[in-house]
This record gives sequence, structure tokens and C-alpha cells, in this order.
Amino acid sequence: METATQWQQLQPSYIREILAASQQPDIISLAGGLPAGDLLPVNELQPYIEALTAQPDLFQYGGSAGYEPLRQDLRRRYDLDKNSELIITSGSQQGLDIIARTYLDSDTHIALEAPCYLGALQVFQLSGATICPVRQTPTGPDLEELEQLFHTTAIKLFYAVPDFHNPTGVCWDLKTRQAVISLCQHYGVFLLEDSPYRALRFIGESMPSLADLAPDITLQLNSFSKTVTPGIRLGFISGPEQLIDQLLRTRQAMDLHSPLPFQQVLLEFLKSPTYSLHLNKLKQVYRDRYTALAESLRNRLGNQAQFNEVEGGMFLWLTLQEDAEQFAERALAAGVATVPGCHFYPPHYSADFNAHRTLRLNFSHSSIEQLRHAVDRLTEIL
Ligand SMILES: Cc1ncc(COP(=O)(O)O)c(C=O)c1O
Repeated sequence: METATQWQQLQPSYIREILAASQQPDIISLAGGLPAGDLLPVNELQPYIEALTAQPDLFQYGGSAGYEPLRQDLRRRYDLDKNSELIITSGSQQGLDIIARTYLDSDTHIALEAPCYLGALQVFQLSGATICPVRQTPTGPDLEELEQLFHTTAIKLFYAVPDFHNPTGVCWDLKTRQAVISLCQHYGVFLLEDSPYRALRFIGESMPSLADLAPDITLQLNSFSKTVTPGIRLGFISGPEQLIDQLLRTRQAMDLHSPLPFQQVLLEFLKSPTYSLHLNKLKQVYRDRYTALAESLRNRLGNQAQFNEVEGGMFLWLTLQEDAEQFAERALAAGVATVPGCHFYPPHYSADFNAHRTLRLNFSHSSIEQLRHAVDRLTEIL
């Protein structure tokens, strides 16, 4: 059967291929974006899962905006503005899909930082919208380039990951947050703030989110994939009530709602004292893993590889003095899976952005010993 025109624009995911290759026993994978497998709170969730059989109502159809007790809890927990509403989604990836189906046409222009989260690029590609990348600096998007883009092109939405960006780990500073908001307000651009790593700050003080600073022009995506477990597939979109109403109609035409039993399990876990203990543990382990990786890279690779320090999240972005795709192939042969940076750019753009020497390394999924061992192997092939 012939595939749809937009489907033909969709690039096969290199990451899926490399993840398959990295399943082999001797490979240390720094390639995926997986949370620590040894810290998934499976035992903590067990009593709430067992209690489900006593609640048959949870096995009926439910409302498309989500399980009401969980929605109320999230409103309070995330201190939503009185004019804001939320929809519970099956992960933030579904949130992106709902937003793209609601607001993007083939003649829409959407701005984003380059490099960019691959799953977002794929959703935007499928919509047929024109993707307009803006260079990322260590403190956020290049503001001059952003203003120039807003000035010359009718941008509808700016997709942003201000806290511990995937793939670079960059966290926007406060001035950049304020400047981006002013530009968006001036040029009538809506913000789509994707925040799956925001709760994973392990160094320094938290900064206000774009939604905190400009709730009337921001749709925010949140996810429990990195803070609880990705397998339960739960997250939410919050934003101005009128926009959430529009998104709700799209959601009704999709999968109706996310599974109620897991929404109840998540609610009980969030309300329990173990949740904050779990989150603290996660941040402490990620800080230790990141510190071990950063120290090994500095000590072993010296000035052959450079990176900016990160203060949270799951990724470190390395710049080499050689071609990263060839390096990643040699690294895989030596037993270390990584992702070359060029895969995080819209097609045809990576050359413009000088991506060919960059590499994403994940530090959340491997033990300190594995991370050090991986750097030993990388040192040998450099
Ligand atoms: C920036 C970003 N947004 C969204 C997602 C999707 O997460 P979820 O599991 O909530 O669908 C990811 C996953 O890695 C991500 O890195």
C-alpha cells in the first residue's frame, strides 16, 4: 500500500537501530535515554498495583482529560494558575502529538533549538509543518538568531526544552528565559515547553519555568517517565484553559484516555512519602554518575574532547576533534554505544550547524564502574 506523503518525510530512527545493537552483552550503552533500571520504584508501586483489584470502577472507560483525583492532585502539586487546565496524556510524547495535530498544518512554521529531541522532530515532520531551527548556545537559544527568525517568518510555536535539554543537557539561564518570553510576546508566538527533566536538577537552584513566567502563552508538557517509570506511560499537558479545551477535542478523537488503573497507581505513589525519597535518591545517583563520567572524560581524554558542565538531567554533549559518526562506529566496535550529534538535527541541517564533531552520552542508565570502563575504551580508540 502506498504510504502517506508526510510519512515519506519521516526518517528511520538511528537511535532505535543503535539501541538494538547495544543489547549485546558486552556493550556498555551510553546511547539510550533510559532512566536507571536499578532505581525503577517497582517495589514501592506494588501495594498500589495490588489494591487495583478492589477498585473495579477503574477498569471502565473514563474521561479524556484524565482521572479526576489525579488531575486535582497535579493542579495543586504544580501550582497551576487559576486560568490554566490540564490533560493527562500517555507520556509527553503523546502530548506532542496532540499539540501537533491541533495546531500544525503543512503551511505552519515551527521554531526549535538545534540540536533537538528526536521524538519531537519526528512528530513535527509527520505534521508536514516547516521546521525552523535556531542555534543553541550554552545558556539557551541564540537570541539574535531567534529574533531574526521571528522578524522574517510567521512562527506559530517555539518548541523548547529549557531544563536539561535532550540531547545537550543545557539549562537556560533566567535572562534567556525572560528574553525569549519578551520576543514571543512581541511577535505573537506561543511557547511549547517540554519539561521531562526539570525535576532532575542535582546541582544548583531551580529556575522558574516558562509556564511560571508566562502562563498565558505557554503550553507545558510534563512526564513521569524519568521521575517514576517510563513503562506506565503517563504525563500531562497544562496551559491556558481555552487551548486545553481545543486539545481535549483532539484527544477524544485519538485514544480516548490514558489507562485509569495506572493513573490511580501514580496518584497513590505521588501522595506517599516514598515519592520524594525516591526522587532524592534518583538525583543523588545521577549526580554521582555524572560526576564520575565527567571526571573520567576530563582525566582521560583531556583536550581531545570538550563538554559543558550540566546541573541535571541525563545527558552530556561531547565535542570531539574528529568526525563523530566514524568515532561512534569505532566506539561500538570497541564495546561502547553512543549517538553522534548529527542525528538530533532536522534533515539537511546538521552540516549548517557544525554537528559532525558532536556526540551525546547518557549517564543515567550505567553504573559508575561501567561509565569509567566506557571512558577507558573510548580513550583507547581516540
Ligand atoms: C525532551 C523529551 N520530550 C519528551 C520525551 C518523551 O517522554 P515520554 O516518555 O514522557 O513520552 C522525551 C523522552 O526521552 C524527551 O527527552
